[in-house]
Amino acid sequence: MDQRPIGVFDSGLGGLTALRELRRILPREDLIYFGDTGRVPYGTKGRETILRYARQDVAFLRSFDLKAIVVACGTVSANALAELTAENDLPIFGVVEAAAQAAVRAASNGRVGLIGTSASIRSGAYEREIAKLDSAVAVTSRACPLFVPLVENGRFRPGDKVVELVVEEYLAPVKAAEVDALVLGCTHYPLLADAIGAFMGPGVALIDTGAVCAGHAAQTLGESGLLAERDRGFCRYFVSDSTQDFARLASVFLGETVRDSVERVEIEKY
Ligand code: DGL
Repeated sequence: MDQRPIGVFDSGLGGLTALRELRRILPREDLIYFGDTGRVPYGTKGRETILRYARQDVAFLRSFDLKAIVVACGTVSANALAELTAENDLPIFGVVEAAAQAAVRAASNGRVGLIGTSASIRSGAYEREIAKLDSAVAVTSRACPLFVPLVENGRFRPGDKVVELVVEEYLAPVKAAEVDALVLGCTHYPLLADAIGAFMGPGVALIDTGAVCAGHAAQTLGESGLLAERDRGFCRYFVSDSTQDFARLASVFLGETVRDSVERVEIEKY
């Protein structure tokens, strides 16, 4: 048993999709969420910048006595996980490994699609992880830079013509590759799952990376005897930009009204 909190971070508030899943499967855990809302997006940045930001995010979270960190951000997981793991003496869970495992399991025809931010796709991290599991699996990948701003502006509901057009534009080559599984390699994409699923068709399994990462973290902590024992855990939220807009955007990603308070962090100090 370990009563210490789990830290979760993301470039912004999209990582709340993973936090939601963690809360669902591990309701007894205390969770501390940091969203780098002052510097989002990371997905358009170079690797060195992503690594510097990620190190500061981890340093802030480690100002708490944590038992583990979940990197909800696809971009950080794909570009900085090896360094973060090597530099820290606590378990750090990223989304890539768990998503690769889920994709290989789901792709019975050996063809996997992958979408993410430009930095995630450029990293080649998913391809490397999938090749380790099964070198015969073919990956068709596509960066989808317009998806994040669309979701943040509330444009993700099925039937939205703009969304349908952008989904078709990005995913036509992935669909043409006749994939069996599609990795939604970014925090924001679960909100587009209905629109993406409608375009790809019913035979394609959509892999929600935040959800599979949360499941993987829960399983690993459980097997190591590191889960908490209490009736219900709390959740504390921190952001690096103004806290004013937090409740509106947070409720989009959490799927419920957020009543908890949020605090601001000077992340450049870390
Ligand atoms: N959180 C990022 C990801 O999952 C998306 C937003 C960004 O570009 O920072 O890749």
